[in-house]
Amino acid sequence: MKKLFSYLLLAGLLFLWACSGENKDTKTESKQDKLAKAFGISVFELENGIGPVKEKLSLGAVDAAKAAEGKKLFEAKCAQCHKLDERYTGPAIRNVTKRRTPEYVINMIMNPEEMVKKHPEAKKLFALHATQMTFQNVTQDDAFKILDYFRSEEK
Ligand code: HEC
Repeated sequence: MKKLFSYLLLAGLLFLWACSGENKDTKTESKQDKLAKAFGISVFELENGIGPVKEKLSLGAVDAAKAAEGKKLFEAKCAQCHKLDERYTGPAIRNVTKRRTPEYVINMIMNPEEMVKKHPEAKKLFALHATQMTFQNVTQDDAFKILDYFRSEEK
């Protein structure tokens, strides 16, 4: 009888443990869900930005030649507002690849107006800088080169 009781107790505890684990998962998931819903965007967009990139990318190693082209593009089209290490008209851009996903960076470069209107993080930055980043007439290919430049400058 005693043995049966302790088995039941053990089963009960295991059950509670399993339930609490499951609850934790659904809680964190629904937090993302709620935030996305509050801003009228999808959970993918919350993590990866809103724009032409709608699926996870699989990036290889940084391509040095592309990064060098990206540097030139950056100097011609972005440096009037961005510096690597200092806040300027826009945020300091070094390590942007650590705080954002690569998909987010491409979407911000290709679609800054919509990003600032709809994305919570871009909205925050807009509030801070009081300037709207504008689309710089870059192709998506150019944006990937600039991304490789950012990745190559990561510290
Ligand atoms: C007119 C000034 C201006 C130009 C030109 C500009 N940006 Fe921006 N950028 C900003 C501002 C300001 C923000 C913050 C969001 C906002 O207010 O629009 C920003 C945000 C960003 C972000 C997001 C940073 C983060 O932490 O989330 C990235 C990435 C970015 N810019 C890359 C670029 C690239 C690459 C170019 C060139 C193709 C460029 N920007 C050109 C002003 C500019």
